[in-house]
Amino acid sequence: MPEIKESFTEFVTAHPKMKFMFFGGKGGVGKTTMAGVTALHLAREGKRTMLASTNPVHSLSGLLDQNVYGAPTQVTGVPNLWAYEIDTKETIERSKQDIKTKIRWFLKFAEISTQADAFVESATMNPAFEESAMFENMVDLMLKNEYDAYVFDTAPTANARRLLGMSKVYSLWVNKMVKSRAEAQTLRELLSFTKKKQTDPLMEYLVGFRERILKARDLLTDAEQTAFFFVTLPEALPIAVIKRFINWFHDFGIPVGGVIVNMVIQKDQVRPDSPEFVRNRVAMQDGYMQEIWRDFDNVRAVVPLLDNEVRGTESLQGVARYVFPAKQEISSPMDALR
Ligand SMILES: Nc1ncnc2c1ncn2[C@@H]1O[C@H](COP(=O)(O)OP(=O)(O)O)[C@@H](O)[C@H]1O
Ligand SMILES: [Mg+2]
Repeated sequence: MPEIKESFTEFVTAHPKMKFMFFGGKGGVGKTTMAGVTALHLAREGKRTMLASTNPVHSLSGLLDQNVYGAPTQVTGVPNLWAYEIDTKETIERSKQDIKTKIRWFLKFAEISTQADAFVESATMNPAFEESAMFENMVDLMLKNEYDAYVFDTAPTANARRLLGMSKVYSLWVNKMVKSRAEAQTLRELLSFTKKKQTDPLMEYLVGFRERILKARDLLTDAEQTAFFFVTLPEALPIAVIKRFINWFHDFGIPVGGVIVNMVIQKDQVRPDSPEFVRNRVAMQDGYMQEIWRDFDNVRAVVPLLDNEVRGTESLQGVARYVFPAKQEISSPMDALR
């Protein structure tokens, strides 16, 4: 009989320092819902919790049935819980301005007298730019460190992977830049009549940037503090997606917290005289559940397909009893899903 080896509750208990939790998976599988449930749970445990979305397609306000757009907002009726949908447009605009300034520094440093605008355009027209800007936002929130726990709706899977893959290269590059800046600076000071030290904004930026990358990398790879969870349905594509993600993450040393299987049809609701459609879905589901139990040893929860969408904290509480079952609840609802 397949079974959960370490439940979500047990996982959280076994990681008392857990602070940054992310949810990844294919679109529509329930990432936002599971992030909400997890944040609610942590807040109930007494942790000051931030539920944040860096996703340009927002849904936290919808999930909570409360406007949390643009600023950290206390969730009504839930002590210790804040939610925050980061304003994408503002972030992107700010990043563009930022990049513009930096490109000007670089051009000035290299003594190239070109308008920065063409460079700025090509840097920010890049389709990965928006994603990177949102990722920067996430890192900001993490480094500010104002909450006990952070739950991020939708894992920046590609970016986390990119950041870690690139962090060595970035570091080498920044080190080189810093070195040549320092040399140029010394030379300039030697040649100048006034022996006054000049501040160098580019240098300051590079040093700050390197520090940020190293800090973000340390946090993202610390299995005591960080975990990425993957949500799937008992269906081919969502399973394939999370298998790929999990492999990437293992390669980069990013801690995988486990798998949540969502929207599983409860078998005790299905009878021989149930419609053929339902019986066929359940037969299909059986095959994929077998695959899940065979290929993932880190299933943390199995959540039934509910008869309603999840909206508002009360409805979230209804899902929470499957994700974080109270002790006496563990056997009954789970058994029905096997
Ligand atoms: N177990 C479930 N049973 C029924 N509906 C669900 C369940 N989990 C999530 N939903 C609904 O499915 C939709 C997609 O969920 P969502 O969390 O927004 O997915 P994602 O963030 O991965 O795109 C939402 O309408 C949500 O309310
Ligand atoms: Mg979502």
